[in-house]
Amino acid sequence: MPRRPAIAALLAAALLPASALALPPLHEAFAGYFDLGAILSRTTIEVPEVTALAATHFNTLTHENELKWHRVQREEGTFTFAEADRIIAFAREHGMQLIGHALCWHQQAPDWIFQGPDGEPASPELLLERLRMHINTVVGRYRGIIDIWDVVNEPAHPGWEESERIYRDSPWYRILGPDYIAHAIRFAREANPDIVVLINDYDAWWPAKYPRIIRIIEDLRAAGEDIDALGMQGHWNILSPTAEQFETALRAYRRLGVPIHLTEIDVSLYQWHEREDTFPDGPTDDVLQQQADHFRSLAEVMLRHHDLIDRVSFWGVSDRYSWKNNFPARGRPDHALLFDRDYQPKPILHAFVEAAHAHRAAQPPREP
Ligand code: GLA
Repeated sequence: MPRRPAIAALLAAALLPASALALPPLHEAFAGYFDLGAILSRTTIEVPEVTALAATHFNTLTHENELKWHRVQREEGTFTFAEADRIIAFAREHGMQLIGHALCWHQQAPDWIFQGPDGEPASPELLLERLRMHINTVVGRYRGIIDIWDVVNEPAHPGWEESERIYRDSPWYRILGPDYIAHAIRFAREANPDIVVLINDYDAWWPAKYPRIIRIIEDLRAAGEDIDALGMQGHWNILSPTAEQFETALRAYRRLGVPIHLTEIDVSLYQWHEREDTFPDGPTDDVLQQQADHFRSLAEVMLRHHDLIDRVSFWGVSDRYSWKNNFPARGRPDHALLFDRDYQPKPILHAFVEAAHAHRAAQPPREP
């Protein structure tokens, strides 16, 4: 492991609560099993408590938004990399592996991408050329710096019901058909033949959804392309997925023969249909323990399948800066991450580490 520069330690010592300072680096608990990831954004990179925790406890880093199309190429042909580069410099300074997120997605993508000069939808030729130009520019710029890319984000039909539909009805799909995925991957490999290519999707454990994701990869292979790893986003909650549902999906994905990255973990205290703030005075010890117990059961599955899992990334560091505070209920505080609003480690963090120690005691990992 690279040594952490003294600056992070100094900042941490000045700002973080004693409970956070007393923690050994979290990623060390998982050494030999999988890498541990966090995110930074243009906002959180300004917060010394967050950067100190990120640099100390995680060994991979993803940009929350700064490499998405709407930030990098808001207007056609004008590329802006300053915000992304700042986060990249941070990761390099702290010896963290970078993950590129996300090249081809239907959200946080400016409207112009999908429009032709006449205001009608872009032609397939025009859209494909824009996709090529964007991916070539972004992946090419970071050749040798970012080696792992979420190339296509959320391509699977999201419905919770059983359905014949496999692909999400996005503008990419409507204009280019399913081949847009193979094209995006090909463009990425042209720009950097050495990258690890991921398709990344949410609810990837859901019984009606994981077969769609598998089918998309089979279609991709039939079209002569492939992924190098599969991203399961992991925006989970206190009840779901169950450990059994998660493990069933992992077993099915195992047959694809590529590693899994758990790319965007948070564990909401709320189920999807709940919109009230049940904890206006802050979460109770009971609910935090319930969150911890549930996550421990999922962590045990991760550890049992550590040979399949290359990375476990959390979609945030502290509950103070989590998208879950605004989604699906705007302004309702959620408490979905490992560190609370005051940067204190939570029971979910301790449960995660305890699961690793217990697994190691029972079954030590092989030497690298
Ligand atoms: C998806 C995307 C992420 C992020 C989250 C919500 O999962 O892949 O980039 O936007 O939604 O924050």
